Amino acid sequence: MSTGFINAELQKIKDAGLYRKLRRVEADQDATLLLDGREVINFSSNNYLGIANHPALATAAKAAIDRYGCGSGASRLISGNMTLHEELETKLAKFKGCEAALVFNSGFQANTGILATLVGDGDVIYSDALNHASIIDGCRLSRAISQVFAHGDLDSLETGLRAAPSGSRKLIVTESIFSMDGDEAPLLGIVELAEKYRAMVMVDEAHGTGVFGPNGAGVVAKLGLTERVDIQMGTLGKALGGFGAYVAGSNALRELLINRCRSFIFTTSLPPAVMAMAIAAIDLVVNEPQRRETLRTNCQMLRKGLLDLGFELTPSGSAILPLIVGDAARCMELSTQLLESGVFAQGIRPPTVPPGTSRLRITLMATHTVAQIDKALQVFRAVKGD
Ligand SMILES: Cc1ncc(COP(=O)(O)O)c(C=O)c1O
Repeated sequence: MSTGFINAELQKIKDAGLYRKLRRVEADQDATLLLDGREVINFSSNNYLGIANHPALATAAKAAIDRYGCGSGASRLISGNMTLHEELETKLAKFKGCEAALVFNSGFQANTGILATLVGDGDVIYSDALNHASIIDGCRLSRAISQVFAHGDLDSLETGLRAAPSGSRKLIVTESIFSMDGDEAPLLGIVELAEKYRAMVMVDEAHGTGVFGPNGAGVVAKLGLTERVDIQMGTLGKALGGFGAYVAGSNALRELLINRCRSFIFTTSLPPAVMAMAIAAIDLVVNEPQRRETLRTNCQMLRKGLLDLGFELTPSGSAILPLIVGDAARCMELSTQLLESGVFAQGIRPPTVPPGTSRLRITLMATHTVAQIDKALQVFRAVKGD
């Protein structure tokens, strides 16, 4: 058999302590989960505003199915461009304060496709060292030179920009809120450097959308940089509680992506129910700012509690609190101990994070109660054991 290598590869993963298994969630996504048959407090979700199971999203999805059916039948450029895709894009453009928006089937597809459309052979992408795997793969796919700058380090970025081959197109790409560290990119400094060296700027707002900025529009909007960032992408599957992704920018950007972006062109478009959910989600995000407030209070409460217990947390003003453990095996052991006591805080190991920086990625939701956070802190105290 020519597939014998598969077991050998699996063994290598196990030997390195990096073997992963799927867990099963048996009810809806909320601040508690029915996980593998047990109820646990959920600190491992990107459903930051707690709207993934909101009745408004469910009602909108059901109504869309009744009116438009289930599947979209084709890609956008064939016969799969439905009324709801355009309605959502108009809404997203307004939400983000941009001229136009375009929906993608996932954030992963958006990042790979956008980068490969905007730069190519002989161009240079400046990518933060902690950017998400989808950005890294987009850099590879584009065939541009990838210049990785030290995380959040403007000097490192400028050194690279200064050395760019003359005549090359340049694009700087960063997350606004880093997915595994929860910290914020120095976006103003990045934009200033981009303007100085005539580079494009692309910001991944996967973890900023819905959580930061006026009406939840994101970190770029919070900083008043909308006009100065060329490309914003974000997901519909995290704080917006559904599925899919968007890019927001100029009309010309949207048109170019429709014409050239392979991950947009060569895939069946998202079904009507998913579009309707996203439309309903934006209304909730805009009209219920108290969700962002409660999320912030919850984050402060858990952070303070963990620090008081002597845990070390890296600084983060977002809903992502990384508790760095270091060793991968120790990190997974801690995660298992917490889970056995009813607290689900996923351990994150390489290759998702750099070797030696395994961590519990603790994420808060607006729908966590004070009682749940208190209970979790008691469990953390017991697990710490001193
Ligand atoms: C920063 C970042 N970008 C992109 C993605 C991909 O988004 P999606 O889950 O919609 O594919 C994720 C999430 O997994 C992410 O954390």
